[in-house]
Amino acid sequence: MSTPSYSLVNNVTGEKIDLPVISGTLGPVGLDVGKVYSQLDVFTYDPGFSSTCSTKSAITYIDGDAGVLLYRGYPVAELAEHCSFIEVAYLILNGELPNAQQLHEFDQNIRRHTMINESLRAFFNGFRYDAHPMAMLTGVVGSLSAFYHDTTNNKDPEHRKIFAHRMIAKIPTIAAAAYKRYCGQPFMYPQNSLDYCSNLLYMMFAVPAEPYQVDPVAARALDVLFILHADHEQNASTSTVRMAGSTGTNPYAAIAAGIAALWGPAHGGANEAVLKMLNEIGDVSRVPEFIRKVKDKSSGVRLMGFGHRVYKNFDPRAKIIREQCHKVLKHLGKENDPQLELAMKLEEIALNDDYFRERKLYPNVDFYSGIIYKALGIPVNMFTPMFAIARTVGWVAHWIEMIADPTLRIARPRQVYTGPAERSVIPINQR
Ligand code: CMC
Repeated sequence: MSTPSYSLVNNVTGEKIDLPVISGTLGPVGLDVGKVYSQLDVFTYDPGFSSTCSTKSAITYIDGDAGVLLYRGYPVAELAEHCSFIEVAYLILNGELPNAQQLHEFDQNIRRHTMINESLRAFFNGFRYDAHPMAMLTGVVGSLSAFYHDTTNNKDPEHRKIFAHRMIAKIPTIAAAAYKRYCGQPFMYPQNSLDYCSNLLYMMFAVPAEPYQVDPVAARALDVLFILHADHEQNASTSTVRMAGSTGTNPYAAIAAGIAALWGPAHGGANEAVLKMLNEIGDVSRVPEFIRKVKDKSSGVRLMGFGHRVYKNFDPRAKIIREQCHKVLKHLGKENDPQLELAMKLEEIALNDDYFRERKLYPNVDFYSGIIYKALGIPVNMFTPMFAIARTVGWVAHWIEMIADPTLRIARPRQVYTGPAERSVIPINQR
């Protein structure tokens, strides 16, 4: 088969430019439109970036029509079955799965970096008692650059590596501290004898007054959820990290920007929104009425946890989470959870409804994750911080991939201007 070629033609003047084709290993090719403006004096227009690649990347591949998600070539379901979150973090950062020695060293490195500076811990007392943990997470992660400016030379690979370890190790400690601030309990120092997710559960739920035993089933459930959330190519928060990072800003500031972008209900905030939606519906008998409201565009109500910009088929993560959900609830003796029953009914009705079928709206990763989090005792406003902890791995990997690329340019989109044409200022007494 001959290599495809594409050109752009001005149909009036006949001016034509050939668009270079950028090929990857899987998925559609990209058309390089970088010279369209300088050669044809036009911009390309794609708000929402439905057809626009912002970069080349070797980290994650999604085929939205087939429901495929690969990290560095490995299907996410296989990784969730055979690996730990830390193992997957190593893979995402380094491109290959670690051998036993490499995993041990990486794991030890992450464990060694879990503590945060004592003055940083004091920041939490400055937040109002009812501050949303995502607000605290954004602020505190942004301020990390004030503590670790010894390793923010973006050009130094060793600095980048230390940043990666620090960021991945400290984000659970920061999230747990935000939770403790929210519920008015003393902060718990990390226990580096514990694995990543056990440590997080310990920091959230232990209190100094009594011993705390981490439930290994709960820790493994969290580990699987974190694997599924670890990366998702150029989603809104990752693109935000890349855009902020493209200016050369310090990496902690770039990650804070990503956390802020994740918070929105169209993105990572959806897991919190799903639980709120289930609470509002309240009972299986009210599902048909709710679905009617969703289908009525004037209501402005969406079925949260449904739909995805890229997946036009089942989100592969949602399938795994659904199974995990049943497993966790059974283990905790909560298999008759009314919210799970409600979610399943909602899913069943939506999947059989023409409105959702025609638009290819399927459950996404956030539809069931909140039910597991809730069963594990994690409060609703901590759901999005959980997502942020896992996605930190992806953000860090993308930042490193971008910053190490010698062809990096500042991300600076253009616009089609729709404001007034040039005009003169009329002095204020004549307006
Ligand atoms: N409920 C009802 N209708 C929907 C929904 C939904 N959840 N999602 C999309 N639609 C409709 C939308 O109204 C539009 O209909 P029409 O063609 O008649 O105008 C059509 O489907 C296409 O929607 P869109 O808004 O153009 O799609 P998008 O790719 O811009 O948005 C989305 C993707 C995820 C923001 C959207 O599906 C949504 O708001 N879902 C609910 C929020 C959610 O669950 N977000 C989590 C996404 S997965 C985790 C993550 O990425 O963080």
